[in-house]
Amino acid sequence: VKQSSQPLKGKLAFIAGAGRGIGRAAALALAERGARIHAVARTESDLASLLEELPGSGHSILTADLSTEAGCETLLDSMRQHRFADIVVANLNVRSQYRRITDEQFSFRGEALADGVAYLTKIAPETLAHQKQSRFGRWIGIGSIVASMGGPGQGLYSAQKKVLESFLITLAVEHGRDGITANLIEPGFIDTHGTRSRYPKERFDKLGSMNLLGRPGKAEEVAHLIASLADPLAGYITGCVIPVCGGTNLSWPLVTVQKQEKPDA
Ligand SMILES: NC(=O)c1ccc[n+]([C@@H]2O[C@H](COP(=O)([O-])OP(=O)(O)OC[C@H]3O[C@@H](n4cnc5c(N)ncnc54)[C@H](OP(=O)(O)O)[C@@H]3O)[C@@H](O)[C@H]2O)c1
Repeated sequence: VKQSSQPLKGKLAFIAGAGRGIGRAAALALAERGARIHAVARTESDLASLLEELPGSGHSILTADLSTEAGCETLLDSMRQHRFADIVVANLNVRSQYRRITDEQFSFRGEALADGVAYLTKIAPETLAHQKQSRFGRWIGIGSIVASMGGPGQGLYSAQKKVLESFLITLAVEHGRDGITANLIEPGFIDTHGTRSRYPKERFDKLGSMNLLGRPGKAEEVAHLIASLADPLAGYITGCVIPVCGGTNLSWPLVTVQKQEKPDA
């Protein structure tokens, strides 16, 4: 099959959390391949600068907080006014007020688990109807390798990402015959504004080196897979959970030990 340099021409990609980091890199990678971008985040200046950088035309930005009911309504309205997306990039990390479950909060509200998919459930019925009609749909979620490996203090975050995984696998099962695919990417430690601002330099460097490559991933490296999964030729890849983590999933504690030992003579 001859591959076009603009395989996504005519497709509209909605990206949740597109102002910075992985979402921004995904917007650029998808636009590079010809897609029109509908970029959503809370900070207008980030979206405005992205809009200037995006190649091609017909892109739009929306300032909305997708962790709120009002923000989800705004998103749905904007999609109804323009068009529903052919490609959905579910890149949002909805920060719950319960970042850590303490003893007092142990009876925390279970709904927090679904915070990361609430905006998706809002847009899913009409988006799927649109995608069924054109017999093309791509749902690409951004989970985390932590959800599969476990991590101290990451219980709620991991559980939210597993809810996203279940949501996507269900879409894959229910809509494969409509030409719709759904997959989850699990990034490892990626160098983004989010990780730079969350961790002091020393901790950032340590976390970024705990993988087979000894460096943090780049947002563009995750975006490369997002764009590949969006491609029409990726139509046979569905229901997958794909790590982009520099091999963090492959027994990294042993790699650390190995580095301290003298190589065999
Ligand atoms: N970086 C990593 O090491 C890593 C590893 C594993 C998984 N991930 C996952 O990858 C995704 C992106 O991470 P990142 O590091 O690229 O994040 P980031 O640099 O912090 O960027 C997040 C983007 O999402 C937007 N956003 C956040 N909350 C929002 C809300 N409630 N409504 C609308 N937009 C919102 C942010 O803009 P505003 O704040 O302006 O809204 C920003 O544009 C997340 O789902 C994260 O869990 C990241």
